[in-house]
This record gives sequence, structure tokens and C-alpha cells, in this order.
Amino acid sequence: RGRTGYTSNYGLEELRTAIAAYLRKHENLEYNPENQILITVGVSEAMDLAMRALLNPGDEVICPEPCYVSYKPCIMLAGGVPVTIPTTQQTAFRVEPDRIRAAVTPKTKAILVSYPSNPTGAVATRELLEQIVAIAREHDLYIVSDEIYDRLTYEGRHTCLPTLPGAYERTILLNGFSKAYAMTGWRIGYAAGAPDVIEAMMKIHQYTMLCAPIMGQMAALEAIKNGYEDSQQMIEQYDQRRRVIVKGLNDAGLECLMPGGAFYAFPSIRRTGLTSDEFAERLLMAEKVAVVPGSAFGDCGEGHIRCSYATSIDKIELALERIARFIANL
Ligand SMILES: Cc1ncc(COP(=O)(O)O)c(C=O)c1O
Repeated sequence: RGRTGYTSNYGLEELRTAIAAYLRKHENLEYNPENQILITVGVSEAMDLAMRALLNPGDEVICPEPCYVSYKPCIMLAGGVPVTIPTTQQTAFRVEPDRIRAAVTPKTKAILVSYPSNPTGAVATRELLEQIVAIAREHDLYIVSDEIYDRLTYEGRHTCLPTLPGAYERTILLNGFSKAYAMTGWRIGYAAGAPDVIEAMMKIHQYTMLCAPIMGQMAALEAIKNGYEDSQQMIEQYDQRRRVIVKGLNDAGLECLMPGGAFYAFPSIRRTGLTSDEFAERLLMAEKVAVVPGSAFGDCGEGHIRCSYATSIDKIELALERIARFIANL
């Protein structure tokens, strides 16, 4: 079809319009595709742009941990200061709003939230998100909400943060096609928010990226228009795998909560006496099973490992057998 050229800096108009229609249909949110949606090279780029657009040197961003590995580097690369709030298994890895409130200073610019969470699989209740919005309103802060795992919510319904009263105008919603449509390599994400912030992000994007690749944008357009049912089936499979992996890890003696979303289990390895680095390396060497040390996601991730269940049930069962053998042989 000859569609191999650059697109608008904001991204293909058809794709922005389709995303706006999707957000209207599923979340009852109104974003103008002309100036409130920016197509990016994954949520990765969108996060970087959001931080660079929002932050002045020394501005602080409150960020619950354990969290996705790029958050702190993106904040720091933009000249900001990450202010991390630890969470633990005792609170199901949900951030405690009082701790956010206590962390606010005159330099705080934004709160970065991401539910369902990578690496913990934690989901937020509507009440928790409302409390976060209330703090942001009290102190006039932005909220950057990475909702890349929104569709991968297994119990109840995901609350899209900008739908909450008072949240829309201060939230930059980040989402993309990598997880819900299993399109990681196509590299398409988007940011939706207030026109001034989206324009500031677009200015950086225009000089660093020009536009997201048109091939990925065309594929994302197909996914958002016609892929919903297929991805729903995939999500049901993840739900089955989630139950298998959590049961297997607990049976192997690693205490593991049932994650409410994403595709990760985050069991405790404390009873083995190993650090998460040691556990991951020794498991890899002894049994050829790859897990990520919890410490990669922040200090409070120590004592845990992240196990992805974005793979076939056969492989998950084999990995569980090997993990059980590894622990028995320690
Ligand atoms: C929470 C979270 N945000 C962002 C990303 C990056 O996504 P993308 O492929 O859209 O750049 C990931 C990838 O694992 C993730 O887990």
C-alpha cells in the first residue's frame, strides 16, 4: 500500500482517532485526537517524554516501589529526583497513601503510579487511587499513570485513573500495545493528557524520534480495531497460568500472593536465606530457569523474585518442577 513514510509527529491520525474512540467506549473518557494523544515508541518513550516535559532540575517525583526498572532512570535523566515509597507483601504491595502524603515537599512535581504492577502484579482499589488523586489535588501535583497492564486485570475491573473526579486534568495516562496485544516488538505506546503537556512531550518526540514507526502504528491500528476479542482469549489464558504458577510456587515453599493483574508472580524467597541475586543466579545455573531478582525493582524488592508467566503452561509447569527441586537441594 506504499505506507512506508513518516507520519505526523503526533502519530497516524487514524490511530489517534481509534485510541480516542477506544477510551471513550471503554472508559468514558474524552480526549481530542488532534492535540491530546501522542503516539510514542512504546510506553518506554512516553515515560521518558513525560518526565522530560514535566520536570525542572531538582523536581521530585514520588514513586512507589518495587516498580518497573525504567522509572527511576527516566526521572533522573530528566534532572528529577525519585522519591521512592517502599511497599511490602503485608500490604499486598499497595502503596499507603499516608506515606505518599508524608513524602510531599515543596519540590514535588508528580506522583508516578502503575497498577497493575510490574513486578508485583498488585492492583489498586478505586479507593486507593481516589486517595492518591486527593493528595495530588491538595498539593497541585501531576499524576503519571502507567496503565500498560490495564487489560490484564483478573478480578474486578481496572480503574483508569483519569476517570476519577478531579484526576483528568492533572493526569498523563500512558498505555500501549505491548502487553494487551502481545506486540512488544512493534514498539507502539501512547500518552493522553492535557494539550499543553502533550504538546511539550511532542516537541521532544519530534526532535528525537520524529514519529513512531509507521509499520508499528498500522499494526496497532489493526489491533485496536479488530483485536479486542483475540486479546480477551489470551487474557483468559494468563488467568489460568496465574493460578498454576502461584500454586506451584507456594507448594515449593515460596510464599506467594495471588497477583491481581499483569503477568508476574512475586514470591518471597526469604526462607531460603539467599539474596534475590544469589537465588536468581544459582537457579539459572542449576536448573536453567530464569527469574529476575526482586532487588532490580528497588531495595524493598529484596527477598523476592519475579517470575513471569507470559509463556506456555507446559514451560511454567516444567519451571515449577525445577524450582521445587532447586529448593529441595539447597
Ligand atoms: C510497567 C511497564 N511499563 C512500561 C513498559 C515498557 O513498555 P513498552 O513496550 O510499551 O515500551 C513495561 C515493559 O515491561 C512495563 O512493565
